[in-house]
Amino acid sequence: MPLDKLICKYDMTQAGYCLKIKEILKNKFGEKIPKVFVKTYGCQQNVSDSEKYKGMLFQMGFSFTDDQDDADVILFNTCAIRENAENKALGNLGWIKNIEKSKPELFVILCGCMTEQENIIEKIKIIYPFVNLVIGTHSAHKFPELFYKAYQKIHEKNGRVFVSEKTDIVPEELPIKRDGKLKAFVSVMYGCNNFCSYCIVPYVRGRERSRRPEDIIEEFKSLVDSGYKDITLLGQNVNSYGKGLDENINFPELLRRLDKIEGDYKIRFMTSHPKDATEELFGVIANSRHIAHHIHLPVQCGSDRILKLMNRKYDTKTYLEKVSYAKSKIPDLTLTSDIIVGFPGETYEEFKETLELITKVRFSSLFTFIYSPRTGTPAAEMPDPFDKAEKTKRILELLKLQEEISKNLCKEMVGKRVRVLAEGIEPKSGDIMCRTDGNIIVQIKAKKEIIGSFIDVLITDSRNESLIGKLI
Ligand code: SAH
Ligand code: SF4
Ligand code: F3S
Repeated sequence: MPLDKLICKYDMTQAGYCLKIKEILKNKFGEKIPKVFVKTYGCQQNVSDSEKYKGMLFQMGFSFTDDQDDADVILFNTCAIRENAENKALGNLGWIKNIEKSKPELFVILCGCMTEQENIIEKIKIIYPFVNLVIGTHSAHKFPELFYKAYQKIHEKNGRVFVSEKTDIVPEELPIKRDGKLKAFVSVMYGCNNFCSYCIVPYVRGRERSRRPEDIIEEFKSLVDSGYKDITLLGQNVNSYGKGLDENINFPELLRRLDKIEGDYKIRFMTSHPKDATEELFGVIANSRHIAHHIHLPVQCGSDRILKLMNRKYDTKTYLEKVSYAKSKIPDLTLTSDIIVGFPGETYEEFKETLELITKVRFSSLFTFIYSPRTGTPAAEMPDPFDKAEKTKRILELLKLQEEISKNLCKEMVGKRVRVLAEGIEPKSGDIMCRTDGNIIVQIKAKKEIIGSFIDVLITDSRNESLIGKLI
C-alpha cells in the first residue's frame, strides 16, 4: 500500500471521545482528579509511545502517579524482546491479581509489543481476566475510542474490549506528554523489514514505514522552539528511512534538512543497522552543525559464521571497514554497540572473536544480552547445545573486558576540552551532571543556572565510566 494511505491522524473523533471520558470521570470522581500509573518496558520506541498514551490520557482528564497503589488506572506498555522483559510485565500483572478484589474499580490497560504475539489475547483472557483493555502497537491512534468503550464495561466480567489490529499504520498528530524538558524522541519510522533470525520486532511491530519528512521537520522545529536540546530520532533501522515515500529521500538527506534548522540543539539517532550505514551518513555527521559525534552501531557478535546465522547481512571485515572509515571522517566519534552472547551453537572460540572485535573497535559502552529464544523466530528452532551457566560465564568475561576498555577511553579524555549539555544535579554531591556527545557523564562544580545550556568543559579526571571536569 502507498505510504500516504497508511497515515492515521488523531482527529476530532478521538478528541471527542476524550471529552466524553472527561464527563464520565467528573461524574464518578467529582473534584478529585483520577490518577494513572504508567509503566514502560523495553526500548525508546516504547518510551515514546508511552508519552503519546500519556498525552491522550491527559486530554481525557487524568493526572499521573508513580505509586501503583494510588492509581485508578494502570497502563503497562510491554516489551517482548527477551524472556525477562516479558516476565517483568507478567510479574506486575500477577501483583494486580492480588489487589484486584479489594479494588474492583481499577482499570487495567495492556499495550505494546507483547500484545502483538500469536495467541496472546486468548492467554490474557484466561490468565488475567481482570485486564480491561488490550491494545496493539498498531491501534494507538484510536486509544480514546477504545478506552471509552472498555470503560463503559468496567464492571462486566466478560465482554471487555480486546483489540489488536494488524494493519501497519503511521500515526500522526497524537497529543504527547513528554517526560523530559531537555531530551525528546521523534519517531522517523516504524517497524522493521530485516528479520534478524533471533528477533521478534518485525513480527510485533510490522513492516517498515517512514513518516513524511515535512511531518518530522514540523515536530522537530516545535521541539527546538520549546527549548529541547537533545533530540533523538527513532527507528528500528533509521538507515533505511525513506523507502516507499513519494519523495525520493534517504536518512542522510533527512539529517541534512534537520541540521539546517536554526537553534541550539543536538541531534541523535538510533538504531543504525551496520549493513545500511553508508559513507554518505558518516559524511553528513562529520559536516553537520548539530549532529552528535556518536553512533550506536549494533554489531551483535564477532564471528562471521554466527553473523550469517543471525541474518545480519554483513561480516566482521565490512563492519570494521565502516568503523575505520567513520573514525577517519569523525576523529572524535564515540561508538556504542549491542552484543548477543550465546546465540544457538556459538562456540567458545566464536565468542572469543567477539572479544577480539570489541578490543579492536573500542566501544565506549555496550548493551550486552544473553540470547533469549523467541517463539516464531528462526533462531528458536536452531540447536542450542550450550547451557545458561556457560553463557553467563561468557557474558561476565565480556563485561570485564568492556569495563577495562571504557575505563581506558575515559582516562584518555583527561586533559581534553569537550562541549557538553548540562542536564541536572547529581543528588549526592550536588554537582552539575553534564553529558558528552558520546553519552558519557561529566560532573562539574557550577551554578545550577547553567542547566539546560551547552557548555565547554576541561576534563580533569576520570572514573570507571564517567568523567570529572571544570567549566572553561
Ligand atoms: N533495531 C535495533 C535493535 C532492536 S532490539 C537493531 O537492529 O540494532 C535491541 C537489541 O536487543 C538488539 O540489538 C539485540 O542485541 C537484542 N536482542 C534482540 N533480540 C534478542 C534476543 N532474542 N535475545 C537476546 N537479545 C536480543
Ligand atoms: Fe530486530 Fe534486526 Fe530489526 Fe533490529 S534490525 S529490530 S535486531 S530484526
Ligand atoms: Fe521491546 Fe518492542 Fe522495543 S519488543 S525492544 S519494546 S520494539
